[in-house]
Amino acid sequence: MKNIRNFCIIAHIDHGKSTLADRLLDYTGSVTEREKQDQLLDNMDLERERGITIKSHAIQMDYVFEGEKYVLNLIDTPGHVDFSYEVSRSIAACEGALLIVDAAQSIQAQTISNLYLALENDLEIIPVLNKVDLPSANPEEVTDDIVDLLGCDPEEVIHASGKTGFGVDNILKAIIERIPAPVGEPNEPLQALIFDSVYNPFRGVETYFRVINGSIKKNQQIKFIATGKTYGADEVGTLKLKQQPKQEIKAGDVGYVITGIKEAKEVKVGDTITDSANPTKNAIGGFEDVKPMVFAGIYPVDTEDYEELRASMEKLQLNDASLVFAPESSAALGFGFRCGFLGMLHMEIIQERLEREFNMTVITTVPNVSYHAFTNKNPDEVIIVNNPSDLPEPSTLNRVEEPYIKATIITKSDFVGNVMSLCIEKRGQITNQTYLTTERVELNFDMPLAEIVFDFYDRLKTVSKGYASFDYHPIGMKQSKLVRLDVLLNAQSVDALSALIHADNAHNIGKKMCEKLKELIPRQQFDIPIQAAIGAKIIARETVKALRKDVTAKCYGGDISRKRKLLEKQKKGKKRMRQVGNVEIPQQAFMAVLKLN
Ligand code: GTP
Repeated sequence: MKNIRNFCIIAHIDHGKSTLADRLLDYTGSVTEREKQDQLLDNMDLERERGITIKSHAIQMDYVFEGEKYVLNLIDTPGHVDFSYEVSRSIAACEGALLIVDAAQSIQAQTISNLYLALENDLEIIPVLNKVDLPSANPEEVTDDIVDLLGCDPEEVIHASGKTGFGVDNILKAIIERIPAPVGEPNEPLQALIFDSVYNPFRGVETYFRVINGSIKKNQQIKFIATGKTYGADEVGTLKLKQQPKQEIKAGDVGYVITGIKEAKEVKVGDTITDSANPTKNAIGGFEDVKPMVFAGIYPVDTEDYEELRASMEKLQLNDASLVFAPESSAALGFGFRCGFLGMLHMEIIQERLEREFNMTVITTVPNVSYHAFTNKNPDEVIIVNNPSDLPEPSTLNRVEEPYIKATIITKSDFVGNVMSLCIEKRGQITNQTYLTTERVELNFDMPLAEIVFDFYDRLKTVSKGYASFDYHPIGMKQSKLVRLDVLLNAQSVDALSALIHADNAHNIGKKMCEKLKELIPRQQFDIPIQAAIGAKIIARETVKALRKDVTAKCYGGDISRKRKLLEKQKKGKKRMRQVGNVEIPQQAFMAVLKLN
């Protein structure tokens, strides 16, 4: 155990985490030329394109240092707040972290939020000044920033370049010398932390774990404490580029186990694995059953594809346990599914995977958080509202509650004013303001979750010129003046366009919503009135004027190929349209309420 080191790499996006991980694998001879790909740790195509490591993985390296053999386990962490729970569990499996800072960009938002997560878990931090090869690198200044942030000595900051390989030897030396070896009791009952799982269509779910105490052996009967289920450990091993089956994984080490589980949702990140005959008394702390934060309807563009969509979602759920869905129907869109996601990025990923991997064309409706409603008849009975149409009639409503969060924002003092205005606009209440240094300020707000899941990040990034780190945790439900804003097209209410919003904003949003829809809905052969309503009260109105002439009429006398082109264009535009009554609605219209500013 004394020659094991478990560590992760934390960094702001694009500061060079994947590139440096590759260099570590190269240097330790963990990859053969043939196995080399550009970005070894990012497996899925989608991940590579977005440059975000969506799922955490782990890899083991062997390294001889001063005549001693060491085992280095690198645990990768996803870099987006949608997956912050997974990040926290990956960090909990380590004793140390490389904190990578781009020598040209210096400390950025995620550097700070990730650092705090690592410090909360008492990790040893090794600061790495990366990309020193860049002509725009500013090593002295950025080193000062790092020293300020960590309170370390300038000598502790390792200068490196993932591109040239400079400094990689020093990083490995620091991993061995500075990160403590794991401590654990090999003879205690098994206690292992699940930090990730990967779905394999042939072998079932592979569960990644870090053994805290005891050991896990091939063919052992093991139990997952949170789910209470027992399995046989058909195969255990360590994670090299390819999996290496082993007889036993001991305290302090990292490995995988295959038990024949076929569904991702049986394996919960943060759960504790123990021996079923001789179980540990203590589950590892910090386990949470991750709940979806954002709900939206997903409907097939073509109503006939409903069953195919269901089959695709079921397959997706096999390997993505955080996706939940239930059938729902909409008067406007027909049959579809109400889906729960970890956040907006997760929602986009699911939508994209449905389209790419399953060839589905879908319509997604306005996302919302989960509300609690109470009626006058039963003021103590919670009605969970995951869909605006589930909100009881306003006249029968006793009250509505919405989820609140405590937000922590760290920014430069120059941007405090901007950040405060944004948070107040988003119904936030400032609870605290602390100057960390003369330059950096920490702000705390209580805010409705609904206000931050949508465009908050982008807005925050803009008003702070990218220099704001942001984190939040839920603080429970609070009563709120919420109303359902309905939209009528051609005097018909379109349920899929309804949204729950704060009463004080209703008139303003209703008006903007009508204006936006007017832009988005194509003109047709007749006038289309667009109305926004709260209950029976119409609060705004616009009209899409009828189209007088055939589209091609414009090309009257023009050549035929031009005409054909125009028709083709129209056809393409149609792909994502949905016929509701006699009005055609494009996909963007269903998201219009989110794009009002
Ligand atoms: P995410 O996975 O998206 O968080 O990014 P990352 O932190 O893994 O960054 P990645 O390794 O993908 O590198 C980001 C960009 O910086 C890429 O274009 C790399 O080629 C480049 N890069 C990484 N390390 C270095 C370096 O040491 N020097 C120079 N000049 N460029 C680098």
